[in-house]
Amino acid sequence: MRKVAFLLSAMLCAITFSGCASEPAPTTTSPMGLDTLELLERGEYLARAANCVACHTPKGAAPYSGGKAMNTPFGVIYSSNLTSDKSSGLGDWNEDDFWQALHQGKSRDGSSLYPAFPYASYTLIVREDSDALFAYFQTIPAVSAQVPDHEVRFPFNTPFALSVWRQFFFKPGVFVADAAQSVSWNRGAYLVEGLGHCGECHTPRGVFGNTQSGSTLAGAYVESLGWDALPLATGLLAPQEQREMVTLLKTGANKRDQLSGPMAEVVFHSLQYLDTEHLGDMTEYMASLPITPAQLRPSLQISVTAARQLSKEGEAIYSEHCADCHGVDGLGKAHQYPALAANKGVIAASPNNAIRMVKHGGFGASTTARPRPYSMPPYAHQLSAREIAAVLNYLRSAWGNAASAVSPQDVWRD
Ligand code: HEC
Ligand code: HEC
Ligand code: HEC
Repeated sequence: MRKVAFLLSAMLCAITFSGCASEPAPTTTSPMGLDTLELLERGEYLARAANCVACHTPKGAAPYSGGKAMNTPFGVIYSSNLTSDKSSGLGDWNEDDFWQALHQGKSRDGSSLYPAFPYASYTLIVREDSDALFAYFQTIPAVSAQVPDHEVRFPFNTPFALSVWRQFFFKPGVFVADAAQSVSWNRGAYLVEGLGHCGECHTPRGVFGNTQSGSTLAGAYVESLGWDALPLATGLLAPQEQREMVTLLKTGANKRDQLSGPMAEVVFHSLQYLDTEHLGDMTEYMASLPITPAQLRPSLQISVTAARQLSKEGEAIYSEHCADCHGVDGLGKAHQYPALAANKGVIAASPNNAIRMVKHGGFGASTTARPRPYSMPPYAHQLSAREIAAVLNYLRSAWGNAASAVSPQDVWRD
């Protein structure tokens, strides 16, 4: 009965196009504690933490000039021009318009924005921080650049579809500090859930592209990227592990691990600029989350005998092609080549990321601490799908690793 009532009220709201969600009273003091910084410095720091630049700057274009294409399950959405240009950018906006965009996901004219703009996370940003961000964006040199029209498929291109989506899956609500937790935990939560919008990739999504509450940061396959965003809710970490995590987020690598692909970009554009104290707060928060099942990319099953055979073949391939960098013992070289033994990417429930790395290669984030990261060569043109599956079966079962088998079919598909 309650479900029916909810559906009815949702439909009514959708039909009348009015925002029916009730809002808690907005918090005004920022959990960030950046009071010693000038307004513009604060805005710049917050923009880094929120990684606004990544989506709003196409390759080779002026910063924040917009027009970068985002592939979504519903079609292609182009990011907006955030420069201070009066006609194509935010030059004519005021603080209220800007707050409405971040907090309500609505453009200046009141029309709803697509959630490819992560306002489901940014809605947690407090007004004080929104105003600092706005002040900063008004200083971005004006670039006149019209953004292409979105290419969204019917029926998703109708205001009705978007308003139904919003009705079910979007609730504006400013961050509310948890009084039972420490100041640092709260700042970490604000950074991870709000500004950092880490859940946009790391939290599993439902069929409507909605992130699922109850499985916060459990780990998810991000279809538009082809990568698994690994689980971040990993349970309590020892102090040494916390420090290693901070180093990983700040520099893109630590003694054992390196961040790759889309995550290397998050470090490159955003995390490397954050204070280590704030990265520590984020780590504290992530380590406190309950562990719930991840939704990584499903892989095919193969028989135990077939996997054993492949793994045997893989050992020879490993010593010929991989051991020079990653070591016969799979321990890699600190800050240069990641260890593959007990590597979370290698032993993840899905072999997807490891397959991607071996096929396409990659390099980690270039950061102040590691301006020229070592790279991993691509093997798609040197090794067959069977050979890649073989070496991965070896990686996933050697040195105490114990992960599910990889079939050559998993390697074929992209
Ligand atoms: C994950 C990608 C992504 C990130 C990160 C992102 N945006 Fe956007 N943003 C978009 C997209 C895509 C749109 C266009 C949405 C639409 O037109 O429906 C958009 C639209 C906007 C708009 C609306 C502009 C208009 O003309 O209506 C504003 C304002 C905005 N973003 C500001 C920001 C700020 C500030 C940040 C950082 C705090 C940010 N964005 C981070 C993708 C992103
Ligand atoms: C655009 C999507 C995306 C966003 C946004 C994102 N991540 Fe990731 N993240 C990934 C992917 C993909 C991986 C797997 C690649 C890897 O491990 O190097 C990953 C891996 C990680 C790992 C390594 C996990 C492990 O067990 O090895 C950490 C830690 C991490 N992300 C933290 C964060 C934090 C903190 C944020 C928010 C500030 C964030 N991520 C935002 C995509 C994303
Ligand atoms: C020239 C040195 C080099 C060689 C040879 C090499 N790798 Fe790598 N490998 C790297 C580096 C550097 C990275 C980290 C890249 C990054 O962060 O994007 C890496 C990353 C990886 C990863 C991802 C680890 C993670 O943290 O998720 C896997 C899996 C991997 N290599 C497997 C292999 C296999 C299998 C071979 C042989 C077929 C191989 N590598 C050969 C240097 C090498």
